[in-house]
Amino acid sequence: MTRKRVAILISGRGSNMSALIAAAEDPAFPAQIALVVSNRPEAAGLRTAAEHGIATAVVDHKTFGKDRERFEQELQAILEQHRIELVCLAGFMRILTPWLVSRWTDKMLNIHPALLPEFKGLDTHRRALEAGVHLHGATVHFVVPDMDSGPIIAQGVVSVLPDDTEEVLARRVLAVEHRIYPLALKLVAEGRVRVEGDVGVIEGDVSDVDSAFLPGAARRN
Ligand code: GRF
Repeated sequence: MTRKRVAILISGRGSNMSALIAAAEDPAFPAQIALVVSNRPEAAGLRTAAEHGIATAVVDHKTFGKDRERFEQELQAILEQHRIELVCLAGFMRILTPWLVSRWTDKMLNIHPALLPEFKGLDTHRRALEAGVHLHGATVHFVVPDMDSGPIIAQGVVSVLPDDTEEVLARRVLAVEHRIYPLALKLVAEGRVRVEGDVGVIEGDVSDVDSAFLPGAARRN
């Protein structure tokens, strides 16, 4: 088995990055983390990655001013240098233009802290509490030019409890994020996610997939 070469793009603490690194430390995992890139030099996750012996790079958006194209060209050049095959956005706080996104169709994943298509954008936990939803969660999806859209690969659900604050809810969702992101990357690296229009379909035997986190896959079986 050749393991897919993955880059993780971060901007901050990188706890999802750490969950992906931990999963990929198993030699049986179908992907290896070959590179971590941050757009912020001070991102704490860079240090964690380096401690795991992973190559790191900084492409500081500030040095490119308003020139998103040059920022993305630089990013793309680094991904090519490292022969990257899949990209995982993990708390990467830059909106990518169609120029870059179109180079990574069905090869770039993102994690969003809500059950998409509900609560796209920021402050998802506050908005979930305000909306009074009883179920909330996280989604891993392929990146398309529209923000927080794109075929869904995996979702994880949590209950919203009466006394929840934004922080408490965020913590509960984050624990789920750390479970579904490695699972989603595994499925993609194994070539088991087929994209049909706007929809991600899990192929083959799904018995190894925790159905609680992939209700769609369970339904199809
Ligand atoms: C996560 O909640 C993720 O869903 C969102 O940004 C946060 C990043 O956290 N996109 P971390 O850097 O992975 O700890």
